[in-house]
Amino acid sequence: MKVFKTIKSIHSNLLVINKSKSLGFVPTMGALHGGHLSIIKKAKKENDYIVVSIFVNPTQFDNKEDLINYPSTIDNDLKLLKSISCDFVFCPTANEIYDSKIKSESFNFNGLDQVMEGAFRKGHFDGVGTIVKRFFEILKPNKAYFGEKDFQQLQIIKKMVSINCFPIQIIPCPIFREADGLAMSSRNVRLNLQQRNAAPIIHKILIKSKELFANKGIETVKYFVEKEFENNPFLALEYFEIAEIDTLISINKKLKNKKYRAFIAAFAGEVRLIDNIALN
Ligand code: PAJ
Repeated sequence: MKVFKTIKSIHSNLLVINKSKSLGFVPTMGALHGGHLSIIKKAKKENDYIVVSIFVNPTQFDNKEDLINYPSTIDNDLKLLKSISCDFVFCPTANEIYDSKIKSESFNFNGLDQVMEGAFRKGHFDGVGTIVKRFFEILKPNKAYFGEKDFQQLQIIKKMVSINCFPIQIIPCPIFREADGLAMSSRNVRLNLQQRNAAPIIHKILIKSKELFANKGIETVKYFVEKEFENNPFLALEYFEIAEIDTLISINKKLKNKKYRAFIAAFAGEVRLIDNIALN
């Protein structure tokens, strides 16, 4: 496994890869967990070579505290990546990526960035779009892998790829969970014991929402979810939305032949957790 910190050094190594071989790319912000590893293993199976980036991207954090508290476990990350035979790791500094201007490009994602995470985290998706575009230009992968845990991010990256006509296939990867259903996340290590014990209810609420969605109206589903959170002393609901998967527009009424997902963002103390589920 080769680890690179500069664009120049990774370029000289990627250039020697035969053009007939495929390169899979998994962008991450490190503090790797089972969710990341499931994606990286899938990329490894589907490509001749893989590159994983580890970069805590400052421009996608709307909240300074969240950026400061973002966990960093680089030695352990590199050990894990080596154990699953990752080929290349790219862990640049912010200066290497942004020069002296740590600033986002501004994108038109056709409204995909205006709802849910975008509505509550101003500028977040411009930051994500900027960094992923930059990585795509530097690494020129054939395929790039994104988790459905961040479903809105996945849809926005697909949009960014089509706007820029990048010849890169975006591969969605299923949500990887703890045994009790909590979606794995780098932020989970910040949960105290009570919060950690409370957090799996988020997935249970999503499962119950799916059952209700099959037979009841949207209002009933929303009422159920809001009540569940009101009755929970450890979790505060930020939003619950049922949205059509391509436009991410929230609905009041189900239409035939459309696919929907339910999305939750909630706080356990200071820690923000998100999760989602396919409804049909
Ligand atoms: P990060 O949160 O480190 O996540 C990296 C990738 O892992 C993302 O595609 C995310 O959706 C996926 N992932 C995280 N937890 C997962 C889980 N439990 N199951 C499946 N996939 C999971 O997302 C980012 O970093 C950043 O925004 C990034 C794309 C790297 C740009 O900075």
